[in-house]
Amino acid sequence: EKGGYPHFMIKEIKEQPEAIRTTVAPRVRAGLPCLEECGITLEKLREFKSISVVACGTAMHAGLVGKYIIESIARVPVTVDIASEFRYRNPIVGEGDLVIIISQSGETADSLAAMRLAKQKGATTLAIVNAKGSSIAREADMLIYTLAGPEISVASTKAYITQLSVMYLFAFELALAKETVSEAECKRLVSALLKMPEAVKYVIETTEEKCKYVATKLITTDSLLYIGRGLDYALSMEGSLKLKEVSYIHSESYAAGELKHGTISLIEDGMPVISVATQSDLIAKTISNIVEVKSRGAMNILVCSEACARTLEDGIADYVIKVPQTDELLMPISAVVPLQILAYYTAVNKGNDPDKPRNLAKSVTVE
Ligand code: M6R
Repeated sequence: EKGGYPHFMIKEIKEQPEAIRTTVAPRVRAGLPCLEECGITLEKLREFKSISVVACGTAMHAGLVGKYIIESIARVPVTVDIASEFRYRNPIVGEGDLVIIISQSGETADSLAAMRLAKQKGATTLAIVNAKGSSIAREADMLIYTLAGPEISVASTKAYITQLSVMYLFAFELALAKETVSEAECKRLVSALLKMPEAVKYVIETTEEKCKYVATKLITTDSLLYIGRGLDYALSMEGSLKLKEVSYIHSESYAAGELKHGTISLIEDGMPVISVATQSDLIAKTISNIVEVKSRGAMNILVCSEACARTLEDGIADYVIKVPQTDELLMPISAVVPLQILAYYTAVNKGNDPDKPRNLAKSVTVE
């Protein structure tokens, strides 16, 4: 059932190209996003003035990437909340607002309760769910299934990547509705998204060995940092969660610009810092943070785009994991892959079972 792989986690990482293809292709018509069968039309989308994304864990991280995408191309304000916080803070949502619930299982207790609260307050709800017929899927006003297939490993990988894919499709459709992008630009974005399965396949093929090697450098560490800016920051949060979940190594993700406001004092000789740099307008700034931590003794591991790798001076990063250039907005889809693989091999090197990390359950149905 593991298809010849030692663990579901690596099997599911490798299923990602197909999972994206299955999720995206049926929702494209004449080169444009088409979410009508999910109950989403351009007319409906025009009405929403604000969006709240509510989810837990990895699904919430998909929401954070979604926020950047939606705000940058559709210019609709988005807040992202952890479901267990949203539901207890008397959130300001009501008629005319859209609340998006993201959940692989569709049964997460806090996400379900948050969705019910949003409905009760008069907001429209859109669920992005993987498990067919689950509670969140049944109760939402609108529903987009991620078509990742069953995800067995507790650590979410292919569900996350399909959640991202759906957030992109949704953002493109919203941007069309709000007329913040032209039809031609929307078609260009959709066609770039349709190419992502190939890009992800290539990333798996070209980075697995390097990640496996870099993972051997992490076994003895107790604690490490992830840094990034913008989309790369959102992505580094997912990288950090994945690593700590399966390897039991403490890690935190920080916005690179925040380092100087306290966290940099943690850096000591040999401490690993994993930086993500895929956005060309922010690369110079992130590199200057990488230089800063290097001069304080950090072991720098850099996951970056080809464009970023070209601007890097020798000797700054100890290990560079290069991700091929795609449309910059779409880079999170391919750049998350080495972060997942790194987490997987670190867990395996430590003798942990990455499919069943201690103290965790696949579906969190308690509050
Ligand atoms: O089923 P859900 O997507 O609602 O689950 C949310 C989180 O519990 C889940 O993403 C968790 O963080 C994963 N184990 C992370 O890999």
